[in-house]
Amino acid sequence: MADKKTFYITTPIYYPSDKLHIGHAYCTVATDTIARYKRLCGFDVMFLTGTDEHGQKIEEKAKAAGVTPQEFVDNIVTGEKGILDLWKLMNISNDRFIRTTDDYHVKSIQYIFKKMYDKGDIYKGAYKGMYCTPCESFWTESQLVDGKCPDCGREVHYAEEEAYFFRLSKYAKPVQDLLESGTFLEPASRVNEMINNFIKPGLEDLCVSRTSFSWGVPVDFDPGHVVYVWVDALSNYITALGYGNDKYNDYEKYWPVDVHVVGKEIVRFHSIIWPAMLMSLGEPVPQKVYGHGWLVIDGGKMSKSKGNVVDPYVLAEKFGVDALRFFLMRTFPFGSDGNFSNELLINTINIDLANDLGNLVSRTTAMVEKYFGGKLPADRAADPQDDELVNLIRSTRDAYAVHMDAFHPHFALEEVFKLIQRANKYIDETAPWVLAKDEANKARLASVMYNLLEALRVALILLTPFIPETCEKAFAQIGANAESVTWEKAAEYAVLSENVEVHKGETLFPRIDMEKAIAELEELNKKNAAPKSEPVLPNIDIEEFAKSDMRVCKILTCEAVKKSDKLLKFTLDDGSGTPRQILSGIHKFYEPEQLVGKTVVAILNLPPRKMMGQESNGMLLSAVKEVDGKEVLNLVMLDDSVPAGSRLC
Ligand code: ME8
Repeated sequence: MADKKTFYITTPIYYPSDKLHIGHAYCTVATDTIARYKRLCGFDVMFLTGTDEHGQKIEEKAKAAGVTPQEFVDNIVTGEKGILDLWKLMNISNDRFIRTTDDYHVKSIQYIFKKMYDKGDIYKGAYKGMYCTPCESFWTESQLVDGKCPDCGREVHYAEEEAYFFRLSKYAKPVQDLLESGTFLEPASRVNEMINNFIKPGLEDLCVSRTSFSWGVPVDFDPGHVVYVWVDALSNYITALGYGNDKYNDYEKYWPVDVHVVGKEIVRFHSIIWPAMLMSLGEPVPQKVYGHGWLVIDGGKMSKSKGNVVDPYVLAEKFGVDALRFFLMRTFPFGSDGNFSNELLINTINIDLANDLGNLVSRTTAMVEKYFGGKLPADRAADPQDDELVNLIRSTRDAYAVHMDAFHPHFALEEVFKLIQRANKYIDETAPWVLAKDEANKARLASVMYNLLEALRVALILLTPFIPETCEKAFAQIGANAESVTWEKAAEYAVLSENVEVHKGETLFPRIDMEKAIAELEELNKKNAAPKSEPVLPNIDIEEFAKSDMRVCKILTCEAVKKSDKLLKFTLDDGSGTPRQILSGIHKFYEPEQLVGKTVVAILNLPPRKMMGQESNGMLLSAVKEVDGKEVLNLVMLDDSVPAGSRLC
């Protein structure tokens, strides 16, 4: 037998976050659906997902939590309700899971970095520019939007460091050719976005090492440098197949990838930087990058404070995993943004799953039980009235496949629901309850029931990638065995045994009372939004605490820093006789004139830090808490009688 055709599909590797919401699950559920579809079609599928665990952000968060970065990521990835748990909950069928802290991956990254260096595509220089810490990205002035990070809209700061650079500029032409060729990047609208926003303004070489923090893959030939987190992260797609390591051995089998499924904000990394890196390594480029849209709430970013429950654990518990998976794929065109709301979710479950699909299963099995004791007689009477439904049973699979192959799962579902709706209409047209009144109609009634079961069999095969658990249950109810639910049989009619036996089971999707469910969700939301007390950090010894030099200071002057919405510049009397300059990002909370003359507390013995080109020598102490999803900040202020320079101890 010829070897099966392979299909390699990936999700992005996720940042370890304990705030994963339904929007994050969207990407992985979509990828899972396509992977399951390809398996159904008979492909040898490799479905990879994982976690992106290095970088300054993680290092900082771990420090704030008083744990090592490795402990921090382990907890979020493998801990209770961590990322692995979430994918298990969502019934994600990945074949492999990569963590960028895995030893084999680290080894491969060093190999990849050295290979590009030896080729002359990585060279040493100095980086000067604006840096966005949350995005771990350097930006040129011209790339900033209103002086802020073009990706996340947050403040950037000036940074300078010795660094290695990747000759991205050298690959501008071949990458543009790739973008313009065929169907490398989809949806097609993203191609122009990449060319106009990034290639045409001129691709600059990319800074690919850092010295300002250490939580990353060390550059083994130059200690002190760690590899830029995106070089580390993008390479996961090949290291997970064994590129540059002995852990796996299927690079030859699966590379080049059939499709990288990624969110629209990281298309740039996947369609420009990643192919350029592969060209430098002399390896084939991906066959496709698909940039999907975002789930948004009221047109804006998803967050818990917007009155909708977005926690996948809560939603799955309330409505069931399959209902949630189905909703994500049925409601939003994959390439565009979709406006999420709990009402929309409940409506979709009620209309499509409870009403159309659930009713068809329960009505059909109930009638076969009622009229035939659960087992159809072989004696049948076909009728031209059946033709339309039978034609649809035969043709739906191929119409569905066209959409699935084009990464349009919502259109594919549309085809399946045409069949389901047609079958429901067929019940009304044939009126089995009327046929059942006359013994002479028995053969005709058996035909009608058989056609309904056949329609269900095909619809359920095609729904398997979307709602796998439900389909398993429903196959048992309609008397379909493993041989009758293959991809090949999804385009055939009269597959079920002529004496098929049904087993009416539990209701697949109970109807949800919208008002009641929304009220319950609102309650849950309130509970979730209630301010959580932050855990007390681990103990430190008194000597360590005593190293902090915290002093009472008087504010002599205070002004806003130009071009910054956030920063205030202070001159302070710290009791030493020399005024001290400190910058603080608290403009959102105070106007300068409110603060001049106040008595505050500053920690003085922090290393000087440059912000927007100005030096800050210390930090003002504030009391900070999140209340109702909003940050509340109060500067620590003392009675004016406390003399400047007094030490806090
Ligand atoms: O970007 N709607 O990781 P990540 C739809 N580590 N998709 C969303 C979403 C929303 N509201 N919010 C997030 C990273 N996502 C990098 C990837 S790959 C080499 C490195 C999607 O955890 C987002 O678009 O921030 C992305 O595809 C995925 O979740 C992981 O995002």
